[in-house]
Amino acid sequence: MRMKEKIQALLDEAETIKFSTVEAVEQYRIRLLGKKGELNDLFEAFKQLEPAMKKEMGVALNRLKTAAQTAVEQAKEAFENQGGVAKETPDMTRPVETGLGHRHPLSLMREEIIDIFGKIGFVVWDGPEIEDDWHLFSALNFPPEHPARDMQDTFFVEKRGGADDVALRTHTSSVQIRMMESQRPPIRAIFPGRVYRNEAISARAHCFFHQVEGLYIDKNVSFADLRETLLHFAKEMFGADTKIRLRPSYFPFTEPSAEMDIACTICGGKGCHLCKHTGWVEILGCGMVDPAVLENCGIDSKIYSGYAFGMGVERMANLKYRVNDLRLFSENDKRFLMQF
Ligand code: PHE
Repeated sequence: MRMKEKIQALLDEAETIKFSTVEAVEQYRIRLLGKKGELNDLFEAFKQLEPAMKKEMGVALNRLKTAAQTAVEQAKEAFENQGGVAKETPDMTRPVETGLGHRHPLSLMREEIIDIFGKIGFVVWDGPEIEDDWHLFSALNFPPEHPARDMQDTFFVEKRGGADDVALRTHTSSVQIRMMESQRPPIRAIFPGRVYRNEAISARAHCFFHQVEGLYIDKNVSFADLRETLLHFAKEMFGADTKIRLRPSYFPFTEPSAEMDIACTICGGKGCHLCKHTGWVEILGCGMVDPAVLENCGIDSKIYSGYAFGMGVERMANLKYRVNDLRLFSENDKRFLMQF
């Protein structure tokens, strides 16, 4: 075949060719544009031509090259867009497969806690996540130099100094103050909400998490009432034979203060990695509301007494669902969420 006809034939092919597979595109590319391909042969032959022929053939050869390159690029692009299969017409009559969503484990946990306390007369009370120094610290008896006010623990929104500071709440105890300021005893409420602390994010710590705190203020409220209420809660939450123990602790706003442990939910008290071989895991902080806190809120501490407690919702979920990385709760990974 003369060179001219050969080029024309290849040009016709390049302009009309259809590929059924990605492999076919690649084979065509190698055959035409590869190092030992047809175009290379033609360019070699071109060098031997008479100068008079060169102009016409040169133009034709370049046209062929461009056409072959275009055919390859367009075919590759089409396969990438379709994922390699010819596009099907969607079936418009097919039922939509969105599926129902799942409750987030933290929502499940919060609802369960609210439910348990709701049945024994605790109402839910809400408050702001951006708080002033008074509700966050001062009214709760934190001395001015208390480390919780330090920049390391608290995200300050505005650091004006001392009593004028504004911060993201570090605990929901601030809502206790708001309720005591606005309601007269008897008060029996729980305070679910998100709290923020300036901590590096890891499997065991996060810069935000969730708490449910509780408050009961009335005449003659005693530590025994606190213990019975928390025992009831632990049994409802973790099973009827759950054992609890209270250890002395310290919080600026309660006196006396305690931390409550439950017998380890994995080993039942024998000792394992979860309870660090002590048989017990801590689940909440609690205590009798310090009379100074009552007075700060205009409640007569000679007439009224009360208890308060606070627990982490993530911690409860960890114990109940055995989630061992806090970050999972806020990553929105469907593979995690689908399990609840
Ligand atoms: N506010 C405490 C905390 O964030 C928990 C707590 C609440 C302790 C109420 C005692 C009484 O750790």
